[in-house]
Order: sequence, then structure tokens, then C-alpha cells
Amino acid sequence: MAEITVRKIRFSFERPIDFDVPDDQLAAMLPPLGLSMTMPYLEPYLIRTMKVAIKQIRDPALAEDARRFSQQEGHHFRNHATLNEQLRRQFGDATARRLLEVEDALEADYQRFSRGKPLRFNLAYAEGFEAMTCAGALAAAEHGAFEGESLPGGELWAWHMAEEIEHRTVAFQVYEHLVGSYLYRILRGGWAQWHYLSYIRRFARCMAQGLGRELPKPTRRERSPMERDALRRYRSTWSPAYDPAKIDLPDGVQALLDRYSAVAEAATGPVPAG
Ligand SMILES: [Fe+2]
Ligand SMILES: [Fe+2]
Repeated sequence: MAEITVRKIRFSFERPIDFDVPDDQLAAMLPPLGLSMTMPYLEPYLIRTMKVAIKQIRDPALAEDARRFSQQEGHHFRNHATLNEQLRRQFGDATARRLLEVEDALEADYQRFSRGKPLRFNLAYAEGFEAMTCAGALAAAEHGAFEGESLPGGELWAWHMAEEIEHRTVAFQVYEHLVGSYLYRILRGGWAQWHYLSYIRRFARCMAQGLGRELPKPTRRERSPMERDALRRYRSTWSPAYDPAKIDLPDGVQALLDRYSAVAEAATGPVPAG
């Protein structure tokens, strides 16, 4: 059984996001905000998937991990929903409407997947998302990106990404337990990552247009050490030997988790999806 603590924390986002920054800074800022926009749809979808999976899990410890995974995700998306409301307000009606159109399209996809796709599809999607996010979170932790408040939304990111690292084994182990095919994990998980990232790009484009800015085209610039580390960790998820339980955690992750345990409200009950 993994060590997963459910921490009920609610962040407030009173400080307006400063978009008056150079193009390259804006280009780095908008994808995380796009990610935030996906959370109130993606994370309830993961929770619905786990709810179905739990009924078939034969290992009580793994079923408990899946419950705690869902509870953590429930707290994550509620905080992102608050940040997203602030974002929509900052953008004004026309852009907020366009953002809502993209949100509706994403929600329609996830509802369709939950209702019409087999569990193995939804579990491979969950693991594809979790593996990719965890690779990025581990690289960010390794390179100190959670120190300070470098991203709009502040500490929300450190808390969320630390918990993504904490529950990194769950989607993988549930997939292995109920599906188990390496090839399907790679093919369907890869498709899931493409599907998910296409929405991040749509949200980012929509916000850039709302600001009357054009995002600079990705260039062949030298990748930062953190980006190289994230790519290396991401590539390792394609290996047949990949096992998130074997990953050594960067220094500081446990300290972050302990810190958020100390400030969280005691949260024991299940968090309903949606
Ligand atoms: Fe999450
Ligand atoms: Fe997660």
C-alpha cells in the first residue's frame, strides 16, 4: 500500500495574474494555466474511472490507494476551479465565453469516454496522464521549481504536484492489476497524452488571443536542465520496465508533503466527483 495522505486545503487567489510580461515569459505561463483549466474536467474523469475500477480490484490495499487517489484529485480540481474563475474574470466576457466553449468540449469528451469506453481505455488514459504529469513534477521538484511563487496560482502548484508524486503508483498499479498490457498502455496512453495536450494548447491559444498577444513559436532553443530532466523522465515511462514505485524522490518532496499535512484540515471522508 502506498503512503497517501488526503489533505483538504483551499487556496485563495486574490492577487490578479500579471500578464504584462515579455512574450517568452507569457509562453511559459500559459501552458500551466491551460493545465489548470483542464483540471475540473480531467480530475473528475479520473475519479469516475477509479470508482468503476475499485469494484473490480481484488486487492484491498490497492482499492484503498485508489480511494485516496480520488480524494486527493477531488481537492485538486476544486482549487483549480477557483483559480480558473479568477482567470475568466480577468479575461472579460468574450474570452471567458471562448474558454467555456473549450471547457465544454473537453467535458463532453470525458463524459463520452466515461459512458462509452471500456475500463481499460479509461485506465490507460489515467495512467498516460499520471505518468506524464509525474515526470514533469519530479523534474520540477528536482530543480527547485516549487520554491517561491514562480507560477500564477502560487502554492497551489507545489501542493498539487507534490501530491501527484505521492500518488504516482496508483493509476499504474490499478492498470497493471486490471489490464496489464504494456503495448496498450503505450499506444492508448500516448494517444491520451496527445488528446490532453491538444486541449492545453487550445486553452493557451485562447488566452493569448484574449490578451491580444501571439505566442512565440517554439524554437530550437537549448532546453533548460529542468526540461531535459523532464524529457528524460518522461521517456523512461515508455520502458517495459517502468515502475513508478522504483523512482527515488528528489530531495524536498517529503518536506513539502509534511508541510501541507501540517496546514491541511483533517479530511477523512470521500470527496464526490463533479
Ligand atoms: Fe491532481
Ligand atoms: Fe493525479
